[in-house]
Amino acid sequence: MTTGPDAKALRERCAREMAGHPRDYLGVRRDAAGFGWLREAFLAVRREDFVPDRVWWPHLEDGACPLIDRALAPRAWLKSVYLLRTPLITQLDDGATAATGPAVGAFTSSISSITVTVEALRVLAPQPGERVLEIGTGTGYSAALLARRTGPGTVTSIEISADLAEAARRRLDRAGAGVRVIAGDGEAGHSEGGPYQRIIATASVRRIPPAWIAQLAPGGTLVVPLASPFGCDLTVRLTAVGDGRVTGRPVATVEYMRLRGQRVPEAGQSYGWPADTDPEQWARYTITADARGQTVALDDDRPTP
Ligand SMILES: C[S@@+](CC[C@H](N)C(=O)[O-])C[C@H]1O[C@@H](n2cnc3c(N)ncnc32)[C@H](O)[C@@H]1O
Repeated sequence: MTTGPDAKALRERCAREMAGHPRDYLGVRRDAAGFGWLREAFLAVRREDFVPDRVWWPHLEDGACPLIDRALAPRAWLKSVYLLRTPLITQLDDGATAATGPAVGAFTSSISSITVTVEALRVLAPQPGERVLEIGTGTGYSAALLARRTGPGTVTSIEISADLAEAARRRLDRAGAGVRVIAGDGEAGHSEGGPYQRIIATASVRRIPPAWIAQLAPGGTLVVPLASPFGCDLTVRLTAVGDGRVTGRPVATVEYMRLRGQRVPEAGQSYGWPADTDPEQWARYTITADARGQTVALDDDRPTP
């Protein structure tokens, strides 16, 4: 099914809206240079080629998520593909619920919204030629954007759901992206392809897996949605300081699906947060992690009243 000119026009409109927005979602003035490659990648990658023909709308209507079926409603489907702020659900209940109609279930895979994807990649700031590991291939869309920047043969992406990994591999190959898709548990990373200059997770964690720290090159950047005691995840940018530790701060509040092995709810203190936390200060916590675990501490640099 072709979506040619319509999809291109929608892509251009999204790019205009993102570029025209003077501030990113952190409220920081957008760095035009940092956004340039993303704009080019966003315009070059046909998002509609990465979205399955049937997806669930992530909001309940009559108690269930409506199914958007490309064959039955091609225009609604394409419009939903190019909504800036809406993720589309591509799997419920780890695949146990078939995409045959409206459904209720746990969201276990999605194509993240355009703004969430673009902002996470902007925070990652990959450079041409760098080796990148992505955990959570999903549809393959974010891997395609990444490879557009770093080049063919540089991106390895891991997806735990074998069906999704296979579908993403096919889409990425068709797009000529040169991304290596591995079906497996991304919590272990992929040491054969490392060390990586950049690692990005598109599923959130309570604990930063030691394998990711071990496979990050000294000076490398790890961007990961980290669970917090604040009722949201935090996009955290960490740097490998070279002595087996990564350290950094949250740069945004966000919501992601949990990494499969870390779904069981736990109190923040069991994964490094202090007993008393202040949601107003979410951006001032420093996260430090190594092979033994992680700590989260409020920086003591608040101005004295
Ligand atoms: C928000 S979706 C990814 C979106 C994706 N980057 C895209 O552009 O379509 C999160 C993905 O992480 C995957 N996932 C969850 N736990 C995982 C794990 N332990 N290893 C690898 N993938 C995992 C889920 O199956 C899901 O497909």
